[in-house]
Amino acid sequence: MPNFEKLLPPPMRRPPKPGHSADFSDPDGAGGNGATALKEGEQNGNGTKTDDPGKRAIEAAKEAPVDLVGWVDERMGGTSFLTAMLLRKVPKGTNWFYTLGSATLFAFLVQAITGVFLAMYYTPSPVEAYSSITHLTNDVFLGEFVRGMHKWGASVMVILVFVHMARTFFFGAYKYPRELNWVIGVVLLILTMVMGFTGYLLPFDQRSYWATIVGVNINGTGPIVGPYLSDFLRAGPEFGATTLSRFYAIHMLLIPGAIIALIGAHLYLVVKLGTTAPPWMRADRKPKASRSEPVDAIANGAGGNGSAP
Ligand code: HEM
Repeated sequence: MPNFEKLLPPPMRRPPKPGHSADFSDPDGAGGNGATALKEGEQNGNGTKTDDPGKRAIEAAKEAPVDLVGWVDERMGGTSFLTAMLLRKVPKGTNWFYTLGSATLFAFLVQAITGVFLAMYYTPSPVEAYSSITHLTNDVFLGEFVRGMHKWGASVMVILVFVHMARTFFFGAYKYPRELNWVIGVVLLILTMVMGFTGYLLPFDQRSYWATIVGVNINGTGPIVGPYLSDFLRAGPEFGATTLSRFYAIHMLLIPGAIIALIGAHLYLVVKLGTTAPPWMRADRKPKASRSEPVDAIANGAGGNGSAP
């Protein structure tokens, strides 16, 4: 097993176990890269002297990223945050299903990055929207690829967010004390769907135009707020030029901003509260009777399982 700990800046390394050396310079004796550059005439892990300036320069170059992280950390104090994030304990039995949240996060990041490049070529006006998209797809270098990533990535994110929600539901992760994180998750789910809905109009072709009219009308059938919501989305009683600008602003600024803020809160709670153990994992029971067991159970020789006869 490779020792990755030597890659961490010194404040983040675990203290050495009693009787073990804290020297990370060569844990397996195979002459690996040292955590501290060896001084002239000093012995390395193989017992050979490294007074070769070339070798020392290589050692120092290998250390440069760690030194840089240490330098920044000394001034920003990010170690405690990173330690909480990266070295946090996770329960036994954690499995691949627990990566679905991070997969959703990755899908969101892909959408954000590809979206920035699309925005460089897109014009949100009813006259130019369609032609700007056609130009991007047909003429711009890798334009079709980036557009395809954004389009398919949207579906991937929607699927992942649902599967992640199913994981947290079936593992009981919505229960105390994680109810608030579930509620934040529900809002994230709604916002993800709104991203899909508002993005669909932007190519401004026949399909996106008519599908959005249907979608806005469906929103209008909702009780009490429905008509107000569809008026808000259309930017008035009729579908017009401002509708496209409104969808663009919601898709580009409003919802991504809200999603970033909520993902921040979501991950803060994940780190603060810890991850739920899988439902099939049980806490280890003590083999002998404990103080908390009913007295009669022990007196009747029921033996350690806490059940009275
Ligand atoms: C943009 C959408 C979302 C992102 C990026 C996201 C991200 C994450 C990440 C990275 C984790 C920790 C790793 C894991 O348990 O998978 C997590 C945990 C969690 N998420 Fe999400 N999530 C999103 C949407 C949702 C939704 C829709 C729900 C439910 C309605 C939800 C509920 C939860 C809960 C309850 C936990 C805690 C899990 C536990 O303690 O085991 N999340 N989320």
